[in-house]
Amino acid sequence: MKIAFVGKGGSGKTTLSSLFIRRLAAVGLPVLAVDADINQHLGVALGMDEEAAAALPAMGAHLPLVKEHLRGSNPRIPSADKMIKTTPPGEGSRLLRVTEDNPVFDACARRVTLDEGTVRLLVTGPFTESDLGVACYHSKVGAVELCLNHLVDGRDEYVVVDMTAGSDSFASGLFTRFDVTFLVAEPTRKGIAVYRQYKEYARDFGVALHVVGNKVQDADDLAFLRSEVGDDLLTVLGHSDWVRSAERGRPHPFSALGETDAAALAALHIAADETYERRDWERYTQQMVHFHLRNAESWGNARTGVDLAAQVDPGFVLRESALTVGAPQPV
Ligand SMILES: Nc1ncnc2c1ncn2[C@@H]1O[C@H](COP(=O)(O)OP(=O)(O)O)[C@@H](O)[C@H]1O
Ligand SMILES: [Mg+2]
Repeated sequence: MKIAFVGKGGSGKTTLSSLFIRRLAAVGLPVLAVDADINQHLGVALGMDEEAAAALPAMGAHLPLVKEHLRGSNPRIPSADKMIKTTPPGEGSRLLRVTEDNPVFDACARRVTLDEGTVRLLVTGPFTESDLGVACYHSKVGAVELCLNHLVDGRDEYVVVDMTAGSDSFASGLFTRFDVTFLVAEPTRKGIAVYRQYKEYARDFGVALHVVGNKVQDADDLAFLRSEVGDDLLTVLGHSDWVRSAERGRPHPFSALGETDAAALAALHIAADETYERRDWERYTQQMVHFHLRNAESWGNARTGVDLAAQVDPGFVLRESALTVGAPQPV
């Protein structure tokens, strides 16, 4: 299950991603955690010290390796340098599984041990000024997008992406890569504005979007969210003492998280799992092709000097069974 946390900076994306990851780990489920937020903070939110978090390998720096691996023996992609972040898999491409070891995870993922269990963490790497708003930003988040487009995840495997809800994810199609998207919103007008914009983009693509209220302190906060968001409001978390203690470097065990916040995380888990039955791999594949063609035309063809539409394998559908029907195994 691919799950995104999006929202305004400071709303609590990273905090809620980390709590949700802990919840999954606590019930023994395999998790691949991905930090694609502008402020790279997921490692620390998962309890790593700053130094260890800063030393995590950046996916952005391993983009050539990621491309080379995923390309496999796909004859439509003769070299990694003609691959852009939206290049879809086809026959011969290598696919990824959440729980396997492969050269991409070897290079980029690191195990993080929580009280609740162990998860694997991937980070895009810190963004620089030049990454924002321009095509180069793709090189960081592009690695995440390529991995999602080559990932076959089953029902009880989770990929949780802490992500910036920027215009780049709309242009690239990254926002369509998830089974469910949790939009974290504080009960403020700005929080709601980000929700409205996201909803607008998501409308035409069948994105499953839920709002998760955060730092909700009283009945007025709750009423505000309900009136602005309606049925899209899934659940809310309060201002959490547990989170405050963790921020002060005095973390409590996850089991000590307040009851209502724990119940909210359970609601997220249920909402994520419910989307499984609505999975549509054909649509998922069509959408990646749609955005690939759009990106090819707007900048990719010019950048690579080739017609990137030729990378599309018309007969290919990414699906869970793809690995068992003759797709190449990771080396
Ligand atoms: N439910 C909460 N209770 C208490 N503090 C919170 C809560 N959610 C977020 N915070 C605090 O708010 C700040 C911003 O949260 P963060 O998760 O980093 O936001 P984002 O990733 O959206 O930028 C952090 O200091 C975090 O500890
Ligand atoms: Mg963050």
